[in-house]
Amino acid sequence: IDAGLSGGPLKGRHILVTSGPTHEPIDPVRYIANRSSGAQGTEIARALAGLGADVTFVTGPADVPPPQGVNVIKVETAQQMLSAVQNAAHADAAVFAAAVADWHVANAGTSKIKKDKTGLPELHFAENPDILATVSQMTQGRPDLVVGFAAETDDVVANATAKRARKGCDWIVANDVSPETGIMGGSENAVTLITAGGAEEWARMGKDAVAAKLASRIAEAIK
Ligand code: CTP
Ligand code: CA
Repeated sequence: IDAGLSGGPLKGRHILVTSGPTHEPIDPVRYIANRSSGAQGTEIARALAGLGADVTFVTGPADVPPPQGVNVIKVETAQQMLSAVQNAAHADAAVFAAAVADWHVANAGTSKIKKDKTGLPELHFAENPDILATVSQMTQGRPDLVVGFAAETDDVVANATAKRARKGCDWIVANDVSPETGIMGGSENAVTLITAGGAEEWARMGKDAVAAKLASRIAEAIK
């Protein structure tokens, strides 16, 4: 079938994708964040749109530009990302590729902290909402397929399997981001797809190829 003529297997389907890091302000000029280029989430959104899906792409401040042909919602903080996700209309599937900061600075300042004032600043952290868990555990309007990510450095499959159960999502895409793998910031990824059926290891390949494979699996799952 010519996807261009048929409209693609995901035509008429609405899919939500989160991507990139979040930035949590310390003051107007400083922030804390996770490392994330946004490359894998961007490729996933591009691949889903390529299969005909109507994609809502909620992204933090990423290094790479968002793909063409998707509805882009730019956010900065985890709280803003949660609001954007909750405001996005009912989705058939949702993919949470964002590297959401786990904490925000509870005593963030509205004016710049000056370093010559009174010694080192004391930051107080408060936990951010878990966007993936919130959507996974929705009792009304939950997407049919909820896919999370798990970037781990040790016991990748065990940690990701536990994470899947804890959050209540359907699938987890797990990867080993130890520095020696060279995956963080690179163009390749080596992932394990964890579903109710178990763990499936995929060969190392380009992030675009991982995205294409995941998009076709999603299309199969929600057809
Ligand atoms: N996630 C999210 N909101 C958060 C934290 C994480 O939506 N506040 C999502 C991520 O987008 C990812 C998944 O949850 O899909 C797993 O993120 P991860 O940081 O690995 O999980 P955590 O529960 O934060 O555990 P950890 O202590 O390992 O960071
Ligand atoms: Ca985390």
